[in-house]
Amino acid sequence: MIRLNPNYDKLQSDYLFVEIARRVNKHLAGNSKRKLIKLGIGDVTKPLSATVIKAFHQGVDEQASKTTFKGYGPDQGYLFLRAAIAQADYHERGCDCIDASDIFISDGAKCDTSNFQELFASDIKVALPDPVYPVYADTNVMAGRTGFAQNGRYQGLIYLEGNESNGFVPSPGELVNNPAELVYLCFPNNPTGATANREQLGDWIQWALSQGAIILYDSAYEAFITDTNTPRSVYEIPGADKCAVEFRSFSKTAGFTGVRCAYTVVPGAIEINGIKLQNMWNRRHSTKFNGVSYPVQKAALAVYSAEGRREIKANIDSYLANARIILDAMNSLGYQYWGGVNSPYVWIKTNEDSWSTFDKILKGADVVITPGSGFGKMGQGYIRISAFNSAENVREALERIVDLLS
Ligand code: MLT
Repeated sequence: MIRLNPNYDKLQSDYLFVEIARRVNKHLAGNSKRKLIKLGIGDVTKPLSATVIKAFHQGVDEQASKTTFKGYGPDQGYLFLRAAIAQADYHERGCDCIDASDIFISDGAKCDTSNFQELFASDIKVALPDPVYPVYADTNVMAGRTGFAQNGRYQGLIYLEGNESNGFVPSPGELVNNPAELVYLCFPNNPTGATANREQLGDWIQWALSQGAIILYDSAYEAFITDTNTPRSVYEIPGADKCAVEFRSFSKTAGFTGVRCAYTVVPGAIEINGIKLQNMWNRRHSTKFNGVSYPVQKAALAVYSAEGRREIKANIDSYLANARIILDAMNSLGYQYWGGVNSPYVWIKTNEDSWSTFDKILKGADVVITPGSGFGKMGQGYIRISAFNSAENVREALERIVDLLS
């Protein structure tokens, strides 16, 4: 009889958002009368901007004509998009160390942050923040780098605790007695909305360079950074091009959650024992991935046009205005919170079991939020509320929550 991958047995539960959907469906099957408002999974609600959709249509039309039709595209992505990314997201922000050859277009930061660990030996030591996006831990479990969980933590993974005293920004000091070879960082952080300043990121880069370690830097929410002093890319820190891989996405930035387009930056300067990490990722990408569709890449290119940039900024500003509604409601409830300023997520301390608060708000307010414990042990006692919805829905949801909890 064929044997299954035993590592899947080690996974603690269903994927967080699958468990949320299960509870929501059960609730909907009951007697709920009010409209359900979703402020749970960070899924955009605004349609693609006018300039982006026009470019998308043009890309589709080109596929309808013999002279402009395109079959398989370059595995790494069309140069027109990679060059625009290098210019707008890096050179214009002073990161000259990155160019188009370092950029790999993909269908999502979730897949890339999941898959990148494949390039490393199966017995490396991996560190990751707690709380954080659950995909990093789950995919290392699937790859066999951990034992079973005990007390909510996988044996063998190193957890970097984010808490109120470090502002949810763990430092490399936590690795002094327990060195890691691969470290995941996520800023603006999902779920807490915390951002790392230049000094904090500089400490991480210095640590990685001194250890010969690699940092996987998930920057999917960088477009929400409003504070001009906060780095939007890890490559704003000198030396990062020798030790850090950056993941970015058009999902939250430009509303591509249903369209799928993202990119990963693997600088040519990263070498491990004389081997370029970029060549390995290229080998993996070209073997296992056939590229993002041409119309989608045309649509992504339009994000960088002058009109595209204006439209996308207006969308982001409106989600941040929703976050303000959430912060105001939490002020009125007297709850402590983080995030919501450089991030579409507000992280709220409730001092009770996260899933109990989730169930209470679902049943009592017909609103979906995310339980903090789904992001790690340190998230217990917190919830996350997402600003991705219409202003009208966010206002109504928060009125219901305030009524319920006050
Ligand atoms: C979240 O809500 O944490 C994100 O939407 C999940 C994701 O991007 O995959």
